[in-house]
Amino acid sequence: MNTVNTLSELKSARSKLSAPVGLVPTMGYLHEGHLSLVRTAKKECASVVVSIFVNPTQFGPKEDLGSYPRDLPRDLSLLEKEGVDLVWHPSAEVMYPDGYQTWVNVELVAAPLEGSMRPGHFRGVATVVAKLFNAVQPDRAYFGQKDAQQAAVIRRMALDLNFNLEVVICPIQREDDGLAMSSRNVYLNSEEQKAATVLSRALRAAAATYQRSLDSNPVDAEALRHVMAEMIQSEPLARLQYVSCADPDSMQEIHGLLAPAGKGSRALLSMAVYIGKTRLIDNLVIGGNQDAADN
Ligand code: PAF
Repeated sequence: MNTVNTLSELKSARSKLSAPVGLVPTMGYLHEGHLSLVRTAKKECASVVVSIFVNPTQFGPKEDLGSYPRDLPRDLSLLEKEGVDLVWHPSAEVMYPDGYQTWVNVELVAAPLEGSMRPGHFRGVATVVAKLFNAVQPDRAYFGQKDAQQAAVIRRMALDLNFNLEVVICPIQREDDGLAMSSRNVYLNSEEQKAATVLSRALRAAAATYQRSLDSNPVDAEALRHVMAEMIQSEPLARLQYVSCADPDSMQEIHGLLAPAGKGSRALLSMAVYIGKTRLIDNLVIGGNQDAADN
């Protein structure tokens, strides 16, 4: 496995890779969620590139950029075992040299939910991902459904800016207790870890309400938001930031009755919840193709 830092090293290493090339963009501190992206990329591509870059421009001034977990030696040894061909680990100066002033703003799909709670977050994500795409020139790029709105923003950006690649979204990986895998789970103590299962429990409760409604009366999006909010509020260590039942592509909130699943319509149930000081997000797709629902 080749590890490079500069753009010229990347260019030369990239030119030696066989096509199709898969890119897995990460911020490091890898867990099974990242490794599942790498494994899918390995199956689908002749060569796999992983980028490791804790992107400062997607963190707000009061967010955890300084304390974001990092362990490069461990990441490299995990990637080596997966048979990754090339790791790109640029510095902030390589990505944002002095005088840097160009940004990618995806509009409507980036505005609600995470976008409204974390101003500037998706500008930072879209910009760095566009730069990673341009530098690595992958044929396919792999992202996790865990960050459902990020996935929608990147899909939109790739389409709008004519990136000549396929954006592949892979299912959420969960711990046995249902907690969605995230590098930020390391912030949770053992009591908080137990409390954090309330996110996936709330999503499953809303999905069950939706399933039951299929046999009787159609359910209202508001009722599903209520089921999730009520369960989150029953957990003393949890503080709810938002719950949502939205269109999975546009991210616009759904109001009124959900169209029957048979008609192919889908809804994204999602939430952001503080467990102690740690902000967690999770989501589940309901309706449409039920294979995609269990993510
Ligand atoms: O999902 C992440 O880890 C990051 O947002 C990404 C896509 C690597 C961009 O910094």
